[in-house]
Amino acid sequence: MNVLILGSGGREHAFAWKIAQSKLLQNLYIAPGNAGTAHCGTNVNLKVTDFEGIKDLVWEKDIDLVLVGPEDPLVKGLHDFFLADEVLRTVPVIGPKKDGAQLEGSKDFSKQFMFRHGVPTAKYATFQKDKLEEGYRFLETLSPPYVLKADGLAAGKGVLILDKLEEAKEELKHMLVDSKFGEASASVVIEEFLKGIELSVFVLTDGISYKLLPAAKDYKRIGEGDTGLNTGGMGAVSPVPFADKEFLKKVEEQIVKPTIKGLNKEGIDYRGFIFVGLMNCDGEPRVIEYNCRMGDPETEVVIPRIKSDLLDLLQGVASQTLESKSYETIDEIATTVVMVSGGYPGEFEKGKRVQGLDDVKESLVFHSGTKQDEENVLTNGGRVFAITSFGRSIEDAVKKSFLSADKIKYDGKYYRRDIGRDLMG
Ligand code: AMP
Ligand code: GLY
Repeated sequence: MNVLILGSGGREHAFAWKIAQSKLLQNLYIAPGNAGTAHCGTNVNLKVTDFEGIKDLVWEKDIDLVLVGPEDPLVKGLHDFFLADEVLRTVPVIGPKKDGAQLEGSKDFSKQFMFRHGVPTAKYATFQKDKLEEGYRFLETLSPPYVLKADGLAAGKGVLILDKLEEAKEELKHMLVDSKFGEASASVVIEEFLKGIELSVFVLTDGISYKLLPAAKDYKRIGEGDTGLNTGGMGAVSPVPFADKEFLKKVEEQIVKPTIKGLNKEGIDYRGFIFVGLMNCDGEPRVIEYNCRMGDPETEVVIPRIKSDLLDLLQGVASQTLESKSYETIDEIATTVVMVSGGYPGEFEKGKRVQGLDDVKESLVFHSGTKQDEENVLTNGGRVFAITSFGRSIEDAVKKSFLSADKIKYDGKYYRRDIGRDLMG
């Protein structure tokens, strides 16, 4: 098979690394990819939202399957674009159509969906500009902290958690009236704050059956001890010790099954990944959010823990035969440590020369933001690498990731040295 992966991060490098090992693969293309994905297949310089460019590439390279990494092209309707096109309609896209992508594209849609199908989540209400006063009254019924979410995609920045009622009211006004997040905050979801520990569960579905992929915990804040600004993710661990068999059974019964059934009932033919962001509230799972894609850096620990052929599973998704596909995981623990550019998630410089990559022997180095410049690898993003290692314990695995991260050198390098520490027993 000829496969095209869309995206340029560590998630896409992990997909490319795994798919490159498939016996079913002939040619692999990654658009736009990075310096790491270039070792797994051929990079093509195309934007993930350049639908016409993607069409030409699929035609030219005789692509048999397209795997979409990020949410943007899905929310913008890439899958629908394929289905509406004479030439492309028979080429399967892994990732939902616009209707299914609303699970991530609209917080209000996803909350309504959860309530319609009895999926446990936080109590909420949604408000528009003309209902500001009602929004204030609803905030007054809640206890702090207060959670405000822009309805639409806001580059991962649309969620505010505020301790004081007055602040929450002020921010609600900024979002609704002053368009703090542009069109994305024309509607705002206000929800009850869930207390507990966060984790993510990943599902691969062909719309009929599903495979529950390994769970993972990520580390969102830039600073050690979960301090400082939010980032795309600074590290991840899989499996998650506090998500034991009993808890995961609850997730499957109370969340995954009703979600798949609900999609079916609503006539949403969903083929792709569902990322379920969860809170473990005293042993009870509650959904924080759905995403219509895999997580980054979670993919960098989840995918290496899948023993089965990923391309075979994706083919099962495309042909709705996922149920019959073999699916096995690796028991060992995987950790990933994300190396970032100095200044991230604020301003940072790109184009720093990277050295020492060949000295890493004990870990998988997934490139998150790099580019190749003749023989040099240069930094090209806030998150630069995700260093994944296996071990019998979290300590064991993460120690290898740190040793590897020490060997890689570039100006302004930073990473958190406490990934997994909270989970060490
Ligand atoms: P989201 O963009 O929906 O993932 O929200 C960003 C982060 O805000 C989540 O990862 C949680 O840490 C936090 N969060 C969102 N909703 C809630 C909630 N209802 N209760 C507590 N924390 C939340
Ligand atoms: N690591 C969180 C995300 O991918 O949204």
